[in-house]
Amino acid sequence: MNESELPVFNHVPVMLDEAMEQLNLHPGKLWVDATAGYGGHLQEMIKRLNGDGKFIGIDRDNQTLSLLKEKISGKANLFHANYSDIESVLEQAGETQITGGILADLGVSSRQLDDADRGFSFLRDGPLDMRMDQTQALTAEKIVNSYSEKELAEIIFIYGEERHSRRIAKRIVENRPFKNTLELADLVRSCVRPSKFDESHPATRTFQALRIEVNDELGNLKSFLRKGIELLAPGGRFVVITFHSLEDRIVKQIFKEAALNCICPPRQPICTCTKRSQLLVITRKPIVADIKEVLANPRARSAKLRAGEKLVSQENH
Ligand SMILES: C[S@@+](CC[C@H](N)C(=O)[O-])C[C@H]1O[C@@H](n2cnc3c(N)ncnc32)[C@H](O)[C@@H]1O
Repeated sequence: MNESELPVFNHVPVMLDEAMEQLNLHPGKLWVDATAGYGGHLQEMIKRLNGDGKFIGIDRDNQTLSLLKEKISGKANLFHANYSDIESVLEQAGETQITGGILADLGVSSRQLDDADRGFSFLRDGPLDMRMDQTQALTAEKIVNSYSEKELAEIIFIYGEERHSRRIAKRIVENRPFKNTLELADLVRSCVRPSKFDESHPATRTFQALRIEVNDELGNLKSFLRKGIELLAPGGRFVVITFHSLEDRIVKQIFKEAALNCICPPRQPICTCTKRSQLLVITRKPIVADIKEVLANPRARSAKLRAGEKLVSQENH
């Protein structure tokens, strides 16, 4: 499907006001939207600051980025990159520190999901692709048709939190090769007993697991968060919106580690470590979308926002 054939709709940015508030926007600083997508959050930052500042947008998806370029028309410096390469993006932009803040609104956009050719959807038939960056070699098709039964079961269990992972992996191996999303979704459905407590599509968790593996989403997230914290200037904010518990746990954990001011054993009387607190965690509990937004935009239902502020570097204790 080419771009002009795609359904026309707006990707509704999730928790827009909450994200802007937590970024603590103020003029004259450098702001990075690490998942620029269709520019909902990025455009709002630029608008609220009347363009006073520098703006960088990053996205791993070239197709998304070329649409964004038309919309943003020179108001932000856009980069086709993985956010885990944030330090090299900054270098290319001629910057050394992020003085304002970083925003990341993780996952796939509605448009990526709705385009059957991208292979993210278990509701529309398309190739088993699921790559966010279409220049990368690994696709969902390669994983499904070449990983061992054990590897598939592990991925589906860990990344999909799917209790029927072993049965699904066994049936995949017995029935492969698979080429399209619906044939895989049907097979998964045949392995999972319907539950009155879970109304989600039976293939939801398996597709989530494959998507995470194809795009190394958790590995990239960890490295992005660590590098992002380093690159923030004191007072700079880090705001992250996640959509499932695996991502939220990583953000919570890495923010917590960055906030620690000492990692010496608890009984040691004098601190001998060099660990100093880098981040003030602003959201002890994640912020969630209000009911009005959840009713208007189902994507907001599982969204969790966490924010931290970079601290001035501290001397040894
Ligand atoms: C939920 S959408 C962001 C939507 C955006 N906030 C808006 O309002 O339009 C997530 C975007 O992040 C991008 N993305 C996912 N993983 C990425 C990564 N590792 N590096 C850069 N971009 C990534 C996806 O391609 C997608 O466009």
